[in-house]
Amino acid sequence: MSGAFEALRRWPDVEAPGLVAVDAADRLILDESADIREASQRGDIVVINDAYGALTLGAADAGATAVRTHIDSLTGERALEANARRASLSDSFRVLPLRAELVRGARVVLLRLPRSLDSLRDIAGLIAAHAHPDVIVVAGGRLKHMSVSMNAVLSEHFGRLDVSHARQKSRVLIAREPHDGVDPAPAAAQAEGLEVRAYGGAFAGARLDIGTRLLLESLPIASAGGTPSDPLIDLACGTGIVGAWMATRYPDAHVYACDQSAVAVESARATMLANGIQDRVAVARDDMLSARPDASASFIALNPPFHSAAAVTDLLAPRMFADVARVLRPGGQLWCVWNSGLKYRPLLEGAIGTTEQAARNAKFTVTVSTRR
Ligand SMILES: C[S@@+](CC[C@H](N)C(=O)[O-])C[C@H]1O[C@@H](n2cnc3c(N)ncnc32)[C@H](O)[C@@H]1O
Repeated sequence: MSGAFEALRRWPDVEAPGLVAVDAADRLILDESADIREASQRGDIVVINDAYGALTLGAADAGATAVRTHIDSLTGERALEANARRASLSDSFRVLPLRAELVRGARVVLLRLPRSLDSLRDIAGLIAAHAHPDVIVVAGGRLKHMSVSMNAVLSEHFGRLDVSHARQKSRVLIAREPHDGVDPAPAAAQAEGLEVRAYGGAFAGARLDIGTRLLLESLPIASAGGTPSDPLIDLACGTGIVGAWMATRYPDAHVYACDQSAVAVESARATMLANGIQDRVAVARDDMLSARPDASASFIALNPPFHSAAAVTDLLAPRMFADVARVLRPGGQLWCVWNSGLKYRPLLEGAIGTTEQAARNAKFTVTVSTRR
């Protein structure tokens, strides 16, 4: 795979100099697991949290067949599929949700460590509950994203944990002897009179983020939209707190909430169920608003994703605003909260139309942009 590694791409995720599709942690996970994969029965390999396909396709290229793989982000999943087509490896794996079927009977799990400990706990519990008792989990990441707390979380579900030497600022944890398996259950809390549900890794957990709070305080009574064909839209919905808030505030309104993260979508569905509004709120896994028709929406609320890599943030927000502009009908509104330091106003003006400040506090700004 070494030559083919160079051909792996992040597309359709943002691409820019310095943003890679495969990194030293991926290579270390593959190297540290090579003998284990070789010894395992070929159909028993599972990959969790691959970024763009390096682990799945690396294992397949080394002979693994019927690899079961799960990627939280839809753009990562689409990148895996595109990379697999280019490498003629599309038949070597299946994409599955983070449920029992993914890990049932597995003897080898390659895991790219998630940043969230709650997410790691959900994954470790699921593997321990359903994988083969002899399963070996090879879990790796970049040192800057790892902490000893991860060892503690893995130890909640595995009796033996070995730690590799660091290589190129990456490390691998090898977990064996699963015990106390448990299926993931969402964290539950109340905020703003709503029941909020969050599986591990969902933005802000089962809490109300302070930016989201300012957005909710600012949202007006929507003067249009809220019908089945023109629902109020909660874009990048996370736990669905904004969509649930709109659906409970406007008891007849239809709402559409979407996010590209599988954990977010599962959380948002659980949030809608917990509030008894699942019949009026459609929750979808989507990259931005790709499933929504042009010029079809009157009202969109958005707390956009930001990212520690500046190049990602700089490229992601304009793409998201452009998709909002495509989906809003003329006169339709985007209500958006953003960290004031990001200075999104000219971007919003350029992509959508007249943009006014609706609220501002020490950290965040809420704007309303009207589609020209
Ligand atoms: C700042 S969080 C906001 C979550 C929620 N609306 C709230 O306020 O609590 C941003 C969300 O954007 C989602 N996201 C990132 N990229 C996306 C994309 N391309 N399409 C849809 N959602 C995306 C993330 O998964 C995350 O849940």
